[in-house]
Amino acid sequence: MGYFGTEKEIIFDKPVLPEKKTDIETVKNRIKELDHMDVDQIRGHVIFYATLAMGDSSITEVSRFAYSTFMEKNMVMKEFAPGLQRIEQEVKQMAREMIGLNNQTRVKLTEGGSESLFCSINSAYQWSKIHKKGIEKPEIVVPYTMHAAVSKWCHYTDFTLKRVPVRSDYRADVKAMEKAITKNTIYIAGSAPCWPYGLYDPIEEIAELAVKNNIWMHVDACLGGYQAPFIEKASGKKFPAWRIGQVPGVLSMSADIHKHGYAAKPLSSIFYRDKDILQYHVYNPSDWPDGKYSSESLLGSFPASSVASAWAVMNHLGVEGYLELAHRTLRVREKYINGINAIKGLKAWDTDIGVLLFETEDMDTMAVLSGLIQERCYAIPCYQPMRIKIALDPVSDAVVENFLETLERVVKGVKAGTITSEFLTRFM
Ligand SMILES: Cc1ncc(COP(=O)(O)O)c(C=O)c1O
Repeated sequence: MGYFGTEKEIIFDKPVLPEKKTDIETVKNRIKELDHMDVDQIRGHVIFYATLAMGDSSITEVSRFAYSTFMEKNMVMKEFAPGLQRIEQEVKQMAREMIGLNNQTRVKLTEGGSESLFCSINSAYQWSKIHKKGIEKPEIVVPYTMHAAVSKWCHYTDFTLKRVPVRSDYRADVKAMEKAITKNTIYIAGSAPCWPYGLYDPIEEIAELAVKNNIWMHVDACLGGYQAPFIEKASGKKFPAWRIGQVPGVLSMSADIHKHGYAAKPLSSIFYRDKDILQYHVYNPSDWPDGKYSSESLLGSFPASSVASAWAVMNHLGVEGYLELAHRTLRVREKYINGINAIKGLKAWDTDIGVLLFETEDMDTMAVLSGLIQERCYAIPCYQPMRIKIALDPVSDAVVENFLETLERVVKGVKAGTITSEFLTRFM
């Protein structure tokens, strides 16, 4: 599971389901204890996208209120729930406004970035069956850095996946992608930015390739979709063009609301260029006893609570709040980069957005990572090239300071030989 691979199975020697009922207080206390086990295990930076680490409990408060209020509702059963329908429509419209998309763009909600990517490949396949001739075995062409979810989809469906090596600056190599295209290619994509390095691919160039070869083009903005627009406003800098509706040839784009929209999980969004393109996403089977079954995306039951959480957080923050968080993110970024570079033997990487990475010189990177995790500061590895990664969130100063202090201590320990990678290997 996760980025280290372990999943410890507990062998139970007696039944876990109680024979008799348990009173509410006992259940609540046990839940609190279990929650504390996690909090004691991991603190500080980075519990990914946890609003509590941002030091502003009001976001968590509105999110929890909306989440628990809508907890028993299912998006699949929204037909007779006018309140829920209103929430859904407003979330979709706010999503468009946050990213700055035109009203032709159609939106569907999904239960995470992986599902959004699955939807994009499926839509591309449905589109290709009509718009391309003679596909024998579908192939998809993506930069090596595209999220692992595309590998999962190709594994499930037996589509051929071509991950094309990136350039020396770690961004998509469009010429090499062109060479990988065949008549079976149904999907081509780039990230804005990619999860491994937080770097934007040259989306416009990939889209030109898509148009030239009549291939569906997807932009994976799961990580940056809701962060970039506000960072662009706060910093005055522009990222390479990435938005659907603004880059010709882009037919779909994914962006996770449970990342920098700061809503509760699971919630992502997939955008289609217009109504005509949306039709390749929609599938409402009726070949079973219960007639038409119409769900939002690939999956069935879908918690209304995360959509309600998004509505609450988006309303609570508004443009003003998201902009404030973007300013804070930029300050956090600077503090991290300066703090990391000030530690002898470490060098921060210049990522675009979303994540921060740093490399180590003359010391075992895995030992540094191990020391951080042992000190309850969560970070993850990037293996190609070997780097340590943290999410770039608008966390509080206390979180940044704790991380940097811990990192300095850990580096000293690794250099002195008192910290090794031994702790981490137990999780691998
Ligand atoms: C660029 C990118 N795409 C897709 C995903 C998958 O999202 P999820 O974990 O919500 O399935 C992620 C997650 O980090 C991501 O960063």
